[in-house]
Amino acid sequence: MAYNLLKGKKGIIFGALDENSIAWKVAIKAKEEGASFTLTNAPIALRMGTINQLAEKCKAEVIGADATSVEDLENLFKKSQEVLGGKIDFVLHSIGMSPNVRKGRSYGDLNYEWLVKTLDISAMSFHKVMQTAEKLDALNEWSSILALSYIAAQRTFPDYSDMAEAKAMLESIARSYGQRLGKLKKTRVNTISQSPTKTTAGTGITGFDVFYDFADRLSPLGNASAEDCANYCITLFSDLTRMVTMQNLYHDGGFSCSGITDALIETIKK
Ligand code: NAI
Repeated sequence: MAYNLLKGKKGIIFGALDENSIAWKVAIKAKEEGASFTLTNAPIALRMGTINQLAEKCKAEVIGADATSVEDLENLFKKSQEVLGGKIDFVLHSIGMSPNVRKGRSYGDLNYEWLVKTLDISAMSFHKVMQTAEKLDALNEWSSILALSYIAAQRTFPDYSDMAEAKAMLESIARSYGQRLGKLKKTRVNTISQSPTKTTAGTGITGFDVFYDFADRLSPLGNASAEDCANYCITLFSDLTRMVTMQNLYHDGGFSCSGITDALIETIKK
């Protein structure tokens, strides 16, 4: 059911690779709620993924951009404003990648060049997006900027490796830039800390199935799905949440506040 929550709003959605992507679900919901937006992803993802199907469904233009390239981001913001006919009201940063995780390097054997890449792609790009938007004066007042995070920023999950550092940095950037853009544009900046979700990025983590099950059993509501996450993103882009900023918002079925549950006790007893 749609509520017209984003009627007339203009946005940029990063990170829809395929129909499992969280950004994909956000795009579908944003369209249903009356928004217009451009879709963007890294050039390689445009070739490998199925973003064009999404673009057709949403009647959205696809503008390629490597989120680590300021030049690409400048082009993205300029073109998006042209295509959408005005400044931007919402941005979704739904980007994560670690070469160390992807290539199976353990935390005690990190390749530091790859670590720099992890941080650049998964965290620094968030700063680059906002700095580019600020310099181009591309944001409307009361706009909303959101990135997706994971609780490994606060607690350790061994196989999440250097992505934990990236998420901690991402959340910190949300606070620092949230303060700045709040003053400049009344723009809010938040991160959503999402449950493990079966996507390309999620399932790329070793042992994903185990911590997916563990989180599901530890969360009173169970794991939050990508679709639920998309609903939450829509509320944060809407005018109903105008005073929420600089927060890391847990969207995890209660996982972050749970010590142990009966379901887990029963499993351990066996
Ligand atoms: P996904 O694999 O569908 O999306 C990740 C996206 O990042 C892809 O579209 C990929 O092309 C894009 N990307 C990678 N390098 C890029 C670059 N240089 N420039 C632009 N885009 C680039 O997976 P998912 O799960 O939808 O990931 C979205 C976000 O949600 C990520 O930040 C991820 O860390 C976060 N998240 C995911 C969870 C999960 O279990 N799947 C849990 C909590 C957070």
